[in-house]
Amino acid sequence: MLRYDPSHLFVEEHGLSEEEIGTTRKELEHAITWFMELHTSGRVGIVDLALRDDLLDQSAELASELRARFDDVVVLGIGGSSLGPHAIYAALQHPYHHLLKETDLPRLHFPDNVDPHTFTSLLDVLNLERTLFVVITKSGGTAETASQFMIVYKLLEKTYGAAAARSQIITITDPQKGNLRALTSEMGWKSLPVPEYIEGRFSVLSPVGLFPAAMAGVDVSSMIAGARDMARQFLDDPVSHPASVAAQHYWLLHTRHGKSVHVLMPYSDGLYFTAQWFMQLWGESLGKRVDNNGREIFTGPTPVAVRGTTDQHSQLQLYIEGPFDKVITFMAFEKHESDVKIPNVFKHLDSYSYLGGHTMGELFDTERRATALSLFRERRPNATVYLSKLDAYSLGQVFMFYELATAVSGGLYHINPFNQPGVEHGKKLTYGALGRPGFEEFAGLMK
Ligand code: PA5
Repeated sequence: MLRYDPSHLFVEEHGLSEEEIGTTRKELEHAITWFMELHTSGRVGIVDLALRDDLLDQSAELASELRARFDDVVVLGIGGSSLGPHAIYAALQHPYHHLLKETDLPRLHFPDNVDPHTFTSLLDVLNLERTLFVVITKSGGTAETASQFMIVYKLLEKTYGAAAARSQIITITDPQKGNLRALTSEMGWKSLPVPEYIEGRFSVLSPVGLFPAAMAGVDVSSMIAGARDMARQFLDDPVSHPASVAAQHYWLLHTRHGKSVHVLMPYSDGLYFTAQWFMQLWGESLGKRVDNNGREIFTGPTPVAVRGTTDQHSQLQLYIEGPFDKVITFMAFEKHESDVKIPNVFKHLDSYSYLGGHTMGELFDTERRATALSLFRERRPNATVYLSKLDAYSLGQVFMFYELATAVSGGLYHINPFNQPGVEHGKKLTYGALGRPGFEEFAGLMK
């Protein structure tokens, strides 16, 4: 099971104390009761997604029907509709999959933006005939995704005609609502649902993450099994679950100790995109102007994703000697799946000879432990999340761990972590400026 080690959070002067954890236990219990009510009433589906098999089966079946026909899969989506599947692909696919000569598995691409340079460059290099486009949008009308899809659709229609284009499009959207659902029915595209009770950034364990992952050959059953075990552990004993414990720790560090920057630092290239996924989850969920009573509180920690050891040579100086405003969480493996021995060469040189005979994994782990200890000794709180290894089961646990921690944190901050009202105004200005009907009042504001 995933292991959360908070021992280095108890630093002198700037860290947690056992006493404050004890005195805020009631607040944690209230936060959990609040979230459990959302869960049992069916309004928030984080836990439920991991307990059901139907969406897993539908995603896996559709992927096995389609996988052999395509060399490339392009995920058209943004934010929660792209970061989750991207995190899975980055963690579990061969890191140089695109260079492998012998593989039956398609390459996945995540434009995740509307930069015309990258988007048109991607279309330039694809073999269109052997490319599947997966359009993912919960709302069904996000401007970035809509524009990507319109360009792709026109290209497919022009090249092969509307009927043939149909076999190269999959939509993943709300089961009932939104323009893309209506269009999907009209055009007869194959489709999977994003259940109503789940927000974009919590949707990685729905078809949003499962279908692209299954196309890439990921063992999605095992991923759900990992999430399910973590969710069941939470249902059995939510107060002492590591996600609740972590939520309470980070909330105390933010609200009582001024640790407003929450750095996630995996010592793993594969988990770097999981840290990016976390950044959206934590930031968009916990950054809120008002609490649940409508009182202005302007709260939320600032999440940052960095990577060990790379960012030891970039950010660490700041973390060790800069302002006392950060808590750092490392991610590490109990075991490296692949490792390589450093050979005993250049024995006559001090800065090389001591490395010979150790493994690269040993160096990786030792640097992480040394970084954690040096931060601790400088009174910089840090924790470590251990995964048993880099596989689908552990990744499912990570997703559930952070989703639960986010939900419980929402309860501790007394905010709604499941909405994002702050981004709406910018969207309206864009709609107005580009002439969307109904948004005329915003049209002149950006001149
Ligand atoms: O978490 C969220 O709700 C957002 O980040 C969305 O995922 C993002 O804005 C994309 O929305 P949609 O899936 O509706 O296109």
